[in-house]
Amino acid sequence: MTSTTPIDPTDLPLERKALLLSGQDFWSTPPVEEAGLASVVLTDGPHGVRRQVGDLDQIGLLESVPATCFPPAVAVGSSWDPETAERIGAAIGVEARALGVPVVLGPGVNIKRSPLCGRNFEYYSEDPLLAGVLGAAHVRGQQGAGVGASVKHFAANNQETQRMQVSADVDERTLREIYLPAFERVVTEAQPATVMCAYNKVNGVYASQHHWLLTEVLREEWGFTGAVVSDWGAVDDRVAALEAGLDLQMPGDHGAGNALVVDAVRSGRLDEAVVDRSVRRVAALAGYVTEPTDGFDADAHHALARELAAGCAVLLKNGGALPLAPGQRVAVVGEFARTPRFQGGGSSHVNATRVDDALTALQAVHAVEFAPGFTLDGSGDTTALRAEAVGLARDADVTVVFAGLAEGDESEGFDRTHLDLPAAQVELIRAVAAVSARTVVVLSSGGVVSLEGWHDDVDAVLAGFLLGQAGGSALADLLTGAADPSGRLAETIPLRLADTPSFLDFPGEQGHVRYGEGVMVGYRQFVTVDRPVRYPFGHGLSYTTFETSGLEVRTVGDDAATVTLTVTNTGTRAGRHVVQVYVATTAGPVRRPARELRAFTKVSLAAGESTTVAFELDRRAFAYWDVREHAWVVAPGEHTVQIGRSATDIVDERTIDLAGDVVVRELTLQSSVAEWFEHPVAGPQLLEGFLATMPEGAAEMHAGMLQMIGSMPMRRFVADFGGAIPAAELERLMAAARAAR
Ligand code: BGC
Repeated sequence: MTSTTPIDPTDLPLERKALLLSGQDFWSTPPVEEAGLASVVLTDGPHGVRRQVGDLDQIGLLESVPATCFPPAVAVGSSWDPETAERIGAAIGVEARALGVPVVLGPGVNIKRSPLCGRNFEYYSEDPLLAGVLGAAHVRGQQGAGVGASVKHFAANNQETQRMQVSADVDERTLREIYLPAFERVVTEAQPATVMCAYNKVNGVYASQHHWLLTEVLREEWGFTGAVVSDWGAVDDRVAALEAGLDLQMPGDHGAGNALVVDAVRSGRLDEAVVDRSVRRVAALAGYVTEPTDGFDADAHHALARELAAGCAVLLKNGGALPLAPGQRVAVVGEFARTPRFQGGGSSHVNATRVDDALTALQAVHAVEFAPGFTLDGSGDTTALRAEAVGLARDADVTVVFAGLAEGDESEGFDRTHLDLPAAQVELIRAVAAVSARTVVVLSSGGVVSLEGWHDDVDAVLAGFLLGQAGGSALADLLTGAADPSGRLAETIPLRLADTPSFLDFPGEQGHVRYGEGVMVGYRQFVTVDRPVRYPFGHGLSYTTFETSGLEVRTVGDDAATVTLTVTNTGTRAGRHVVQVYVATTAGPVRRPARELRAFTKVSLAAGESTTVAFELDRRAFAYWDVREHAWVVAPGEHTVQIGRSATDIVDERTIDLAGDVVVRELTLQSSVAEWFEHPVAGPQLLEGFLATMPEGAAEMHAGMLQMIGSMPMRRFVADFGGAIPAAELERLMAAARAAR
């Protein structure tokens, strides 16, 4: 046998190079033997490995090889715990290596713009910091295990309705402050092997061929060096996509796209260097290919999934009904107790190695009676099912109702149109609450559901969202008190769908979805306009209590600050507390959300224990995106650092004064009179010269004048009051302003 030295992939013939730029099938790139490149399998993700062998499909209809279904992102978001995300990423990495998968597609860090988005279960939060920190941790864990990640879907993919055509029309500041930062953090902190572009258009241009997004922002600003892969079927114009910075088209299209690339090069429309650039990036992915390892420990991963799931559920309300006390007569009601809802539908659907249900887990430690109360598909005799459940509830010390949304109610591919639980479940909860000594509701859903119509009737509410394959036993651990609830809401639970910031502009119309609420997404808007909610972002209870004290905030260096405080577990059992640090300011020329999350940490404390936590807030924590400067700007002035138990419950705060950035703007004759007079360089000189030509008393008149004619363009002002400021003087001042920038 002869062995030949592999050739550099960019030295391959053009057709062979083009071949490398799209999949050979649904889930893999073609091997290129002469360049020594193995085929690279890329498969879903994000909360478990969906490795299909044999018949392939993309939308999760066909079976895949068993793998652990870890808590999906909706749950991890509620954990507020990067360690949870990192451990999940690491475990997925181990399973992927055993299953021969070098790249697992995830995490998804899109912002939950509306609670209706069908894919919110696959995303972390309505807040970009929380989403970014968790996404980066997931990538660190997965890539630390030697498996490439794919942060997705870049960018502004915040709905499923018309996801393959719709144009997300988002202004620049909103993109920079809300929709891009989670991607930015993942890319800059964790260097994912790949970024997956979104299906949708962003401001009229397909994300797959958006040069500004894929090259200027992603690579030139953030320094991304990996490969950009298309979402499955997201490429519209193959050559335009390649030029814009999209490297790998997935899945393959039987060579059609490659032929277009070859033709474009041959006809001189496309520079071969563009092909070479992408060839290098895709070739680098082969570095993740390893020999499959010898299996994984499914029991250990199941135990991990159980431990982590317990830290994700959010105890919303607890009027003393939880934890369940030993010896209580417990009635368990609701089909979800027996048939758990633990993951979302679509491409992320994992074939779980096993599934725990809460009923069995509770029965292992408590004598419980069970009635299904309803069916998942709404079939059967609703009245009889309810009557049976109410009968059990009447004799119980506490009734635990497992309610939620069935798989068919929410999924990738479509958005919900309302937030309601099925009516039969609402009726069941109310009927049970009317007779049971105490009622606890456990919710399973991929997105937020409305609690209205029954919330005030029940004693406790535990929002489990979707907790993965061990969610049932994790819920039992929380109900019995074997675990302490420590999740916090990563998204607001509104009182009404119509209250949500994107309500009027979701999911758009006639091919466009206008992000009309701008930066006021989620809690940013609720808090700013002081609109009541059922439960705010960041809310969540424990079985113990915490207090914070000794807050100190110091400014350091270049408009940055350090924050220290002490957290004490003031209760009688161990627990975990999430310290949330917000920044509030009205400084600067743009309307700011009333407060924004800028740092957080989750601390574990034994009963009575205290610890000191410290945060560093960099200048970005205080900055807004200035659309005139196309840059982050810290406004000079007061900024208040607030410690919250949630976005609406601020327990302490300190105000600091920041020097900020003095923005020296360019002046033109179109600039307003106010801009001229208030300009830090030209303004004082202009005023001096202007006053010299004016009668006495003009200085006093000046303020009033600015109010009246401040918005007038200078061109018009000089036309009307030309004599006051000679044209040459204006020229000189414009040059001075330019020079000072
Ligand atoms: C989804 C992606 C997924 C891909 C492959 C697409 O429809 O949007 O998130 O990774 O399919 O299954």
